[in-house]
Amino acid sequence: MAIAYLNGAWTAPSDAKISVFDRGFMFGDGVYEVMPVYGGKIFTKTAHLERLARSLREIRLTTRFSEDDWSQLLDQAVVKAGEDNALIYLQVTRGVAPERSHAYLAAEPTVLITVTPFTPNNEQDIVSLRVCTKEDFRWHRADIKVTSLIANGMIKNEALAEGYHDAIMVRAGFVTEATSSNVFMVVDSEIMTPPKSELLLHGITREEVIRIAQGLDLKVKECEVQASALEGADEVWLSATGMEVQPIGEINGMQVGDGKPGPIWRQMFRAFQDEKQKAIECID
Ligand code: PDD
Repeated sequence: MAIAYLNGAWTAPSDAKISVFDRGFMFGDGVYEVMPVYGGKIFTKTAHLERLARSLREIRLTTRFSEDDWSQLLDQAVVKAGEDNALIYLQVTRGVAPERSHAYLAAEPTVLITVTPFTPNNEQDIVSLRVCTKEDFRWHRADIKVTSLIANGMIKNEALAEGYHDAIMVRAGFVTEATSSNVFMVVDSEIMTPPKSELLLHGITREEVIRIAQGLDLKVKECEVQASALEGADEVWLSATGMEVQPIGEINGMQVGDGKPGPIWRQMFRAFQDEKQKAIECID
């Protein structure tokens, strides 16, 4: 069952209401996290809570919640939803101001959590995506997980209108990320992904993929990826919460490898499923 928590009250998501003076609504002044729940357990919870704390610090927003408080609240939300597999959306905004003002007027942060049922991908249902490349015209702090996603939405919807599933964004000739996921490229069995910087989100799934690949003795390099190199790659993948690791079959109309999910992607996908299972069974 989908449920929502808004500033201390539990409701159905459609009944949760916020003020028009909420700075999240008027200024997009807030940060968020999306976390996966598998088998009733929040996967990579600590990493998500650490990133939330960093986002809050970066936008100078203080809340009364400690990491432990967040953790307990999220666990409570998962129990209330009663779903085995779900996505948690957590948003913290600078709260309701007495009037519209660019200045931060004193306000309590608004805390919203939703938990919605979710069906994870099955290996046999996964299709290779068709993507294009687009200029990354977002602001220079894409590392902060802010709710203002207008540029991501514009770029994604341009790609959709042109018949693609998504766009990989490119700044000054180099890949940053896709509109809601990180990018990996495989060349001669070596896995490459753009390094962490202020120009891309430090994805939790990206971190998991790197860790799992290293555990499989695969070579992983965090290095600048030229957009022009993508089309000659053996495999290209996207990674994100919910999506996990998804293969790309075509970029700008050119086939990647043989256009089908590649062997290293398959190895990664299966190892990722094992990690999920271990987390459900609490095996380190
Ligand atoms: N998005 N890059 C961007 C721009 C993203 O929005 C996301 C995730 C990622 C991957 O991050 P992670 O692996 O931590 O989910 C990378 C979420 C899922 C969303 O906005 O719905």
